[in-house]
Amino acid sequence: MFPKNFYWGASTSAHQVEGGLTNNWSKWELKHSKEASEHYKNNRPHWYKMSEENYKDACHPDNYISGIACDSYNQYKEDVKVLKELGLNAYRFSVDWSRIEPKKGEFSEEGIQYYKKLVKELRKNNIEPFLTCWHWPIPLWLEEEGGLESKNIVKYFKRYVEFLVKNLGEDVKYWMTINEPIVISTASYLISNWPPQKRSIFTFNKITFGKLVDMHKEAYKVIKEYDANLQLGIAKNNSYEESYNNNPINKLITRVHRYFNNFRYLGLVHNHLDYIGLNFYFHNKIGIKGVRNDNDKVNDMGWWMKPKSIYYVIKEVWDRYHLPICITENGVADREDKYREWWLDKTMEALEMSLKEGVDLRGYMHWSLLDNFEWDSGYWPRFGLAARDRKIKDSGWYYKKLVEKYR
Ligand code: BGC
Repeated sequence: MFPKNFYWGASTSAHQVEGGLTNNWSKWELKHSKEASEHYKNNRPHWYKMSEENYKDACHPDNYISGIACDSYNQYKEDVKVLKELGLNAYRFSVDWSRIEPKKGEFSEEGIQYYKKLVKELRKNNIEPFLTCWHWPIPLWLEEEGGLESKNIVKYFKRYVEFLVKNLGEDVKYWMTINEPIVISTASYLISNWPPQKRSIFTFNKITFGKLVDMHKEAYKVIKEYDANLQLGIAKNNSYEESYNNNPINKLITRVHRYFNNFRYLGLVHNHLDYIGLNFYFHNKIGIKGVRNDNDKVNDMGWWMKPKSIYYVIKEVWDRYHLPICITENGVADREDKYREWWLDKTMEALEMSLKEGVDLRGYMHWSLLDNFEWDSGYWPRFGLAARDRKIKDSGWYYKKLVEKYR
C-alpha cells in the first residue's frame, strides 16, 4: 500500500537532544528541578504506574535539567548513523532559536553552521531533512520582552525564519513553522506547568488563535517568497476524541473540545499549508467530568494506548482539508521496550487503512530517534528507537524490518 517515495523517518527536537543550550527552558529547569523531584518523592503518582526505576530517576533533581541532552550538537554524525542503520530516508529535527539569535537581531554564524553541517550529513546519506523552525524554547532576550506575549513576536519570528530560509533553503525542501501550537500555549498559559507558568484564558486565546496563527502565516510568506517550490507545513497534535457515553451533554462537550483541540487552529491556517504534519499520541474519552479513559493499557506516562486511532485522526483531517498529510510524530514512552513493537504494528495497520481509502499520506516519522529530554518530566520517560548512547533497541530493529517490508 505504501507509495515508493514514502518518507520513513524519525523525529527529534533541538532542545531535547542537542545539549548546551541557553534559553527560557534551560533557565526554568534550573529553578524548577528541585521542586519537581520533591513532588515525585512526596506524591508518587499512582496513575503513572511508574516502575521502581522510573520512580528513582523521577525523584532526582538532575533528571529535570536538560544539560548536554544527547549531545547531538557534537554527535550529530552519530545520529545520522543511527538513521542510516535503521534504513530510514527522512529525519525531522528542529532549529533552536537561541542558538541562531542569541542576542536580539544578532545572528550567529556558528549556530547556523551547525544546522548546515547536519543537513549536509543527511543529504550525503540520502536522508530527507524535515526542518521545524520552532519547537518551543525562546531566547532569553525575547523572554525578557514577554516571549509569546511580546507585541513584536510576529515580527521577530518572521525575521528569524527569513534568516533560516536564506541559509538553509537550498538544501531543505520540507519545512514546518511551529510544533504543536495548542500544546505549547495550553501548557504555558492554561494548565501553567511550563514556563512562563501563567494562567489566563484570555492570554491563551490571544496567543493560540492570534499570534501563533500570524507567526505561521508570515513565515509561510517569507518561505514561499524565497522559493515557491519549498513545501511548508505545521506539526499539529491531534487526538482522537469521543464522548464518554451517549449522554447528549457529554457529546456536546466532546464536539466543542474536539473543535478547539483539533480544528480551530488548522481552520485558520489551512490556506497557508502545502501539507499537514500530524503528531498523534492520544485517544480520549471526554465528558462533563473531563477525560475518562478506560486505561486498560497505559504507557509509562500514564497515557492510554490506542495506536490504531491514528486512522480516525488522519481521516478527520483528510476529509476536511484534502491536503497531503505526513505523520510528523507518533510513539510511546516505554522504558522496558515492551509495547513499541505492538504500537508500530497497529499504527502501520491504521496507515494502510488510510492509504486504502485514498488519503494522500506522504510519510511517517516515529517519535523519537533517541531517548531524550521530555520537557517537565525530564529524562525518565523513554520514547527512543535508540537509547541516549545511540544503542538501537529491539523495537528499533523491528521498525527497520517493518520499513523493509512496506517499502
Ligand atoms: C512533542 C515532543 C514530546 C512528545 C512526547 C510532543 O507533544 O512535540 O516534544 O517529546 O510529544 O511527549
